[in-house]
Amino acid sequence: MTNKSETAELLARLEEKVDRMIAQFGDKCPHFAGKDGIYDDMGTDWWTSGFWGGLLWVMHGATGHDRYREAAWHWDETIESWFVKPTDQLNHDVGFQFLPTAVIKHTATGDEDGRRRGLEAADFLAGRFNPAADFLRAWNGDKYGWAIIDCMMNIPLLFWATEMTGDPRYKHIALRHADTALRYSVREDGSVNHIISFDPESGAYLGSLGGQGSAPDSAWSRGTAWGLYGFAAAYRWTGDVKYLNAAKRIAHFFVASLPDDLVPYWDFRLDDLDGEPRDTSASAIAASGLLDIADCVPSAERRTYLEPARRILASLTDRYGTWDRPGHEGILIAATGHKPGNGCIDGSLIYGDYFYVEAVAKLNGWKQRVFTPHPQVCAEKPAVSV
Ligand code: GLY
Repeated sequence: MTNKSETAELLARLEEKVDRMIAQFGDKCPHFAGKDGIYDDMGTDWWTSGFWGGLLWVMHGATGHDRYREAAWHWDETIESWFVKPTDQLNHDVGFQFLPTAVIKHTATGDEDGRRRGLEAADFLAGRFNPAADFLRAWNGDKYGWAIIDCMMNIPLLFWATEMTGDPRYKHIALRHADTALRYSVREDGSVNHIISFDPESGAYLGSLGGQGSAPDSAWSRGTAWGLYGFAAAYRWTGDVKYLNAAKRIAHFFVASLPDDLVPYWDFRLDDLDGEPRDTSASAIAASGLLDIADCVPSAERRTYLEPARRILASLTDRYGTWDRPGHEGILIAATGHKPGNGCIDGSLIYGDYFYVEAVAKLNGWKQRVFTPHPQVCAEKPAVSV
């Protein structure tokens, strides 16, 4: 994927593919497809419920076609309905649910309901802040003291809420969480901890847990990608170079640790790779994040981030795409959700498909951003040149 005609051709292929997915999905909420290539129908309160709508919004932005906007339109309303229904699923991932639905809807169309729903979700997220240790609580149940690296992708909702309202409280919470993640989640070598645990009463740091990685000191590949992209987003929102440096450090670890085909196994630190599944979603997320880093750095440095992003996307496209399987409902195969929990292994994941489409759209000059719609830096620069 080195020139404009290749990326434009890929977007055209995606149009064909996504048009088919719209017909195949009907009104289901896709999450994971196994070897049969048929996506499941997950509850719309689940953390991944924003990605299919988000993929459609990105396609609308990248192509201008109304059919994608029409298919995407209801998703923020559908997810919002859970604020007044019994569920224990809503957690810090309201960022993942409302940024690709409500917030982009407002960015793309000025829709006031999208703005209102995004702010409702930001209030919910801000309410999960624990000031004793400056972190946003990740999950529910008795996990009062746990924060996870994935949350770096949710705090853009708070930066956006400050932009929308002029109220700095949201941003203050986002900054305090980001600083906690920088201190405890990002390791010297650029790998990251998945879960960091605090005493929710005293705020004392208790240590890190393995979570979706193979061990507390391992390197869960998708968590690494969340950190890469999330710290790049924090930089784009704030202009604070410490976040850019964190994003770069994680990016260097990610890229340097990749196997030959540029798609990692589910954890970068497995003793024996034999039979272990890969995770294409990690590569798709990282590629999109690398493009955002490339968009922010001086031109002499740009290729350092742009080239791996292009090469990763080329490998995903050539080796892991479902182009020759029209009955397959996913875009990428070989994604892994939760290996230690034995869930969603070696199939298609809707967030892998989403971030792949997002990265291809960026390469095609799409300028709206789901996670950084109003960046403080990079805003005036041209889109990544191809
Ligand atoms: N945020 C959960 C995951 O990446 O699996």
